[in-house]
Amino acid sequence: MAGRLDKRVAIVTGGASGIGAATATLFAQEGANVFVCDVNEAGAEEVTAAIRADGGDAHAVRLDVTNESDWSDAFDLVIQRHGRTDVLMNVAGLFRGGPLEDSDLVAFDSLVAVNLKGVYLGCREAVRRMKSRPNELPWASIVNVSSTAGFIGTPNSSIYTMTKGGVRLFSKAVAVEAAHYGYRIRCNSLHPGGTDTAMFDGVLAERGMSREQQREAARTRNPMGRMAEPIEIAYGALFLASDESRFMTGSELALDGGYAAR
Ligand SMILES: NC(=O)c1ccc[n+]([C@@H]2O[C@H](COP(=O)([O-])OP(=O)(O)OC[C@H]3O[C@@H](n4cnc5c(N)ncnc54)[C@H](O)[C@@H]3O)[C@@H](O)[C@H]2O)c1
Repeated sequence: MAGRLDKRVAIVTGGASGIGAATATLFAQEGANVFVCDVNEAGAEEVTAAIRADGGDAHAVRLDVTNESDWSDAFDLVIQRHGRTDVLMNVAGLFRGGPLEDSDLVAFDSLVAVNLKGVYLGCREAVRRMKSRPNELPWASIVNVSSTAGFIGTPNSSIYTMTKGGVRLFSKAVAVEAAHYGYRIRCNSLHPGGTDTAMFDGVLAERGMSREQQREAARTRNPMGRMAEPIEIAYGALFLASDESRFMTGSELALDGGYAAR
């Protein structure tokens, strides 16, 4: 039986861990040729090996999303092997929290570099490489991972919120501009709520909370009363990457247990 991404060629950043690893794994299970990209090369190799052991097709690529030439090298590699790229999943991201008044430019610069500049460079390279897409192929898909922080403000995460709000609106601009120039490229943003990953461990450490305390707090944080598992976010990514969302561009998908609905 054909998978939902059969023979599609997908780049997944942040693929070594958490949501990116779950997404890369699910895409491969659905028939995609997946490029697992991350600064954490060993982690990307590990995810790639697990995908291959399961019969999937994956390659690990060291890519720092903040580095311009890493992006063009990664696309060169993908295009050399497969002739095109169908999907770009910009998942790589950083979280740093704390009161605005105590923050500094080190935190600001690192968040803006990965969460904003990384998404900008990825989208720019993707548009350059995807714009001459043959008409017989379905539209390419770019998915930028934002957050519930891309919708609403919360205390102690102002810089992160700024970057994720930027990702949300930037995705709309990319979608509208690509269509304006006649490029067959869709672009949407994906908005996870609190998800059980290494990033969330960092959030807990900053808040001085144990995972049990967080699970308890999560019961009141969103209407569904729990955190997400990475695979639950990956299913949303699969929908946005696949042709099932073919009439969707410049839009947003929240997978947050109802958090932003209140
Ligand atoms: N976990 C959550 O609760 C949550 C909620 C909302 C949104 N998100 C977003 O989901 C995305 C994935 O987060 P996660 O929870 O899986 O985190 P994670 O920490 O498990 O994974 C993030 C990955 O990004 C990689 N990365 C960091 N900087 C990079 C760079 N410069 N170049 C390439 N790769 C880099 C890391 O090495 C890591 O593998 C992020 O964009 C995050 O902001 C997460």
